[in-house]
Amino acid sequence: MCLLGHTPARGVRSPGCRRGYHAFVLWPQTRVAQLLGASLPIVQAGMAGGITPADLVAAVSAAGAFGTVGAGTLSPDRLRDVVTGIRARTDRPFGVNLLFPPMRAHAACAAAAVNAVLAPFRTAAGVAAAPHPQAMPTGLVEAQLQVAIDERVAMVTFAFGLPPAGAIDALHAAGVVVFGTANTVDEARAVVAAGADAVVAQGSEAGGHRAGLDSEALVGLVALIPAVVDAVDVPVVAAGGIMDGRGIAAALMLGAEGLQLGTAFLLAHESTAPEAYKAALAAAREDASVTTRAFTGRRARALPTPLIEALETAGAELLPYPQQSSLTAPIRERGIADDRAEWLFLLGGQGTRLARRLPVAELVTALDAETRATLARVG
Ligand SMILES: Cc1cc2nc3c(=O)[nH]c(=O)nc-3n(C[C@H](O)[C@H](O)[C@H](O)COP(=O)(O)O)c2cc1C
Repeated sequence: MCLLGHTPARGVRSPGCRRGYHAFVLWPQTRVAQLLGASLPIVQAGMAGGITPADLVAAVSAAGAFGTVGAGTLSPDRLRDVVTGIRARTDRPFGVNLLFPPMRAHAACAAAAVNAVLAPFRTAAGVAAAPHPQAMPTGLVEAQLQVAIDERVAMVTFAFGLPPAGAIDALHAAGVVVFGTANTVDEARAVVAAGADAVVAQGSEAGGHRAGLDSEALVGLVALIPAVVDAVDVPVVAAGGIMDGRGIAAALMLGAEGLQLGTAFLLAHESTAPEAYKAALAAAREDASVTTRAFTGRRARALPTPLIEALETAGAELLPYPQQSSLTAPIRERGIADDRAEWLFLLGGQGTRLARRLPVAELVTALDAETRATLARVG
């Protein structure tokens, strides 16, 4: 099917420059599908926190979409194990998502104040005394990058900031395609200037953290996609609240050439998100989620819990990411072990009314069929 399109040049557009309208393939072999070597331009978001196991990522890629390991918190050895596990299940391409948060110091008194608010939750969850705040382990991201290069994964997406100097060139030299995440047009320009092959434009609807560089911007996808498409000459991947083929077709109409879905895949059978988490998301209304820094120190969209409410109400100065996360982690881990939603970090987008709890293969087949049906309706 050929609808509106654009020239294939890459780079940053000058202000006011609009896309030309040339014929190009709208579905499914967009430039994003071609970059990824996938049958469909649907990317399963790399979601940190151990919920994107080899089973999930392999099933997504085997179904013709593109699976991504959420490697943000994985040790290099664990990342290598997951990559090996995916390769044992499928020969289709897949990617790795890595996090590059800015390093920020915290005041000792802030940790004491946060720990005081968390104390009753620790007692209720039966977890040990307050931990010391932990920053990103030195050398972790460099070691994760090396695994992606050694293993020659098909793609790396970066989020929370830009990779260190030279990293994108090294990935390219190993044949790895690089996508970067942006929440605003300025961030999209910075991501492209750093060398990314595509921009993931994350709208305010999105579940999870604000994954762009450092703004906490919350811009809806209807405004964000065309603004980013007009600003850069690399393909744009839309992320946020997309749960079915109608959302995919709408994003394509706005100029996106790929779609990144998190919440929809988190609810799939192969995701290892705890049952209480999946059930809470599947039951959530479109207006249920909040954005908060309470759990990790970085703004994220999640369902409210008593812990979030207590930290927000106390007005305590929060620690930066990931130190804040290290203080709440033992409670979250107990929530995972006991399948208790009130102790979990219930990250999810605004599209939860459209939630489907299906095996990945059925979900991907449905997304493709719905997209084709919607595009056929609009001619
Ligand atoms: C549970 C969860 C964890 C996430 N973790 C990451 C992550 O580690 N890195 C990242 O770039 N984006 C992460 N995201 C954001 C996704 O990349 C994507 O922007 C978002 O899921 C799109 O919105 P949707 O959830 O409504 O589909 C996460 C999202 C969720 C729901």
